[in-house]
Amino acid sequence: MPQHTSEIEQFLTYLRFASISADAKMQPQVIDCGRWLRDKLTAIGLEAELAQTKGNPIVLARNQKKPGRPTVLIYGHYDVQPVDPLNLWRTPPFEPSIANGIVTARGASDNKGQTLSHIFGVEETLKREGDLPVNLIFLIEGEEEVGSQSLTDFLQSRRKELECDVVVISDSPMIAPGVPTLCYGLRGIQAIEITLHGPKQDLHSGMFGGAVLNPLTALVRLLSTLHRPDLSVAVDGFYDSVRPLQKWEHDGWKKLPYQEKDVKAITGVPALAGESGHTALERLWARPTAEINGLWGGYQGEGSKTVIPSTAHAKLSFRLVPDQEPEEIVKLVENHLRANLPESIQMEIEVGHGGAAYLTDPHDPWGKAAQNALRKAFDGKEPALIREGGSIPIVSDFKRILGADTLLLGLCLSDCNAHSPNETFPLENIELGKKLNRELLRELAAQAK
Ligand code: BES
Ligand code: ZN
Repeated sequence: MPQHTSEIEQFLTYLRFASISADAKMQPQVIDCGRWLRDKLTAIGLEAELAQTKGNPIVLARNQKKPGRPTVLIYGHYDVQPVDPLNLWRTPPFEPSIANGIVTARGASDNKGQTLSHIFGVEETLKREGDLPVNLIFLIEGEEEVGSQSLTDFLQSRRKELECDVVVISDSPMIAPGVPTLCYGLRGIQAIEITLHGPKQDLHSGMFGGAVLNPLTALVRLLSTLHRPDLSVAVDGFYDSVRPLQKWEHDGWKKLPYQEKDVKAITGVPALAGESGHTALERLWARPTAEINGLWGGYQGEGSKTVIPSTAHAKLSFRLVPDQEPEEIVKLVENHLRANLPESIQMEIEVGHGGAAYLTDPHDPWGKAAQNALRKAFDGKEPALIREGGSIPIVSDFKRILGADTLLLGLCLSDCNAHSPNETFPLENIELGKKLNRELLRELAAQAK
């Protein structure tokens, strides 16, 4: 990579890779993106490799390990979400455009801009000071958006080499522009795909409708049993292991600069909805949910076709909170669906990716060091302590396999359109991220002394 290429140019190059992990056709782009990243990390003076896995390669880079300083692992992902619906993008998703200091492209916030800011931060410190205050590992994967399955095996097989004191991630939002944000909890997730089989082939709906149950009708009826009228989840035992919110969280969240009106403004809905008895933030961050992510079957083409389809399909996912276990949730959901399945329908269940929720104490020594760094990077402002509703499944594996807690420091904004058309990242947050990286590595080194 030429030395003179500006940071913005490098960011745009990184964004041009269509590194969509969900789409097997895009794998060459995913791999090229991983290579670019490895070369970038090599160019800033780290020992970098592109480690092969059964799936997408993992980029690993480190400085020289020296005794007497803590090891910090900075995690990120270079894969991105699919881009559809493409027609709703104002500019093509992999041709980044800049307007009013904001870059628009798929992956801008999730997670390329956030990770690259840390890389630029490390690059700057290495240039200025010749060394970092910590032993540093960059671990940047290409399968986060599809459940990080290769990374779990990688952590097991390279456990010794990846030993670290603490993990740092910027893959969650800042609670409001300019507000330093430490996220100390994430929801977990369990994905499930179901297929309902009815007649052995598609049927004429006039000749057989009324005598043979339509699998799509069976599917919508079945899915409607997942929620009670108040939108709580109706699966038996679903809430049994949900850990209650602590009082300091309940009180603290009410004062955050992100409340129901902000959720309404970002999403464009006239009213919020969800389980009764909890505020919107509680429902987003500390309560589990059942979601239908996709539903299909039957005729989808132009005009009409009078058919009873032979199959019907749904993609479901369940957001989980401490102490729900993904495997246990699969069992409970399967029992629920089987108990509500009509006699004439067969059900196939495909269990998808899963990961437990994550919760740590933002007031422990690493959390305090992170808060100090946030204060310094944001001109003395007090950090907001939040949880988030999204999932980074590997975080619970960092704890389980490497024994390390994770600090989640947000650098993107809540209205960044992650997973949606027109994803954005404010360019000024690159500078902010560099500053945060510098302060954080210093604070973590000081904390370990
Ligand atoms: N950056 C998100 C995770 C996130 C989102 C954290 C919002 C905090 C707030 C990440 O890239 C993501 O989208 N994760 C997926 C994981 C899933 C596909 C296994 C998610 O949450 O849907
Ligand atoms: Zn994402």
